[in-house]
Amino acid sequence: MIIEYPTDLLADVKKATAGRRLTGFTPGQGPRQPELMLIGEAPGRHEEQVNIPFSGASGQELMKLVESIGYSRQTVYITSVVRQRPYSIKRVRDKKTGQVVEKTPNRTPTKGEVRAFAPLFDWELHYVDPQVLVPLGNTALQRLLGPQANIGQLHGQAITSAIQEADPAGKGYRWSKRQYRLFPMYHPAAILYARRLQPTVEADWQRLGQFMHNLHRQENK
Ligand code: URA
Repeated sequence: MIIEYPTDLLADVKKATAGRRLTGFTPGQGPRQPELMLIGEAPGRHEEQVNIPFSGASGQELMKLVESIGYSRQTVYITSVVRQRPYSIKRVRDKKTGQVVEKTPNRTPTKGEVRAFAPLFDWELHYVDPQVLVPLGNTALQRLLGPQANIGQLHGQAITSAIQEADPAGKGYRWSKRQYRLFPMYHPAAILYARRLQPTVEADWQRLGQFMHNLHRQENK
C-alpha cells in the first residue's frame, strides 16, 4: 500500500523546506498495523527515480536481512524520517572533455530538514500503527530518541521508551505520552561501506527475529 499524506501537512512541509536542496517525494510503503516499521534516513537517487523506498543498493541489503527473519517487503512497512532526496551541488571537471559539469550527489539530511518533516512522520506513525519501530542508523534513531542516542551503543537491542514528536508550539520536539517498542539497527548502507560490520548486523537481525517470536508467544498466552 502506498500511503497518501494529508494535504495540509504536505503544504506545511513545503513551506518549512522552501529553498532547501531537496528533490522528489518518495512516500512510505507497506501495510497498516504491521509488526515492523523500518525507518530510514531519506530517499537516495534510486528511490527518487522509481519512488519506492529502499529500492537501491541499501534496499537490497535491507531486504536480505528482512527475509532472513521471515518477513518480506510486503509484510513490513518501510519509510524514512525525510521524504525527499537531500542533495548537494558539486561542480567537477569532466576528465575527458575538460568541461565543468554540475553533479547533485545524495547527502545526509540536516537536523532542520528532519524537523521540517517531523509532523508528517508523526502522522504516518499514528496512521500505520506498527508493533515495533526499527530505526536504521543514527539519523532515524536520533529523530526518535534525541541527539545523545547512538546507534553504535543501541543497535540490536529492544528498548521501550517515549519518542520525540514535533512540538506544535515551537521548532523543536516534545516527548510522546505513549511508550513505544524500538529495536534500533545499523543502516544497511553501513555494510556497504564497512563489510566487517556484516556479521554484527546479521546477528542483530536474528535477535530481532527472536524478540518478535517471544513477543507473539507472550501475546498468545
Ligand atoms: N536510505 C534510506 O534511508 N532510505 C532509502 O529509501 C534509501 C536509502
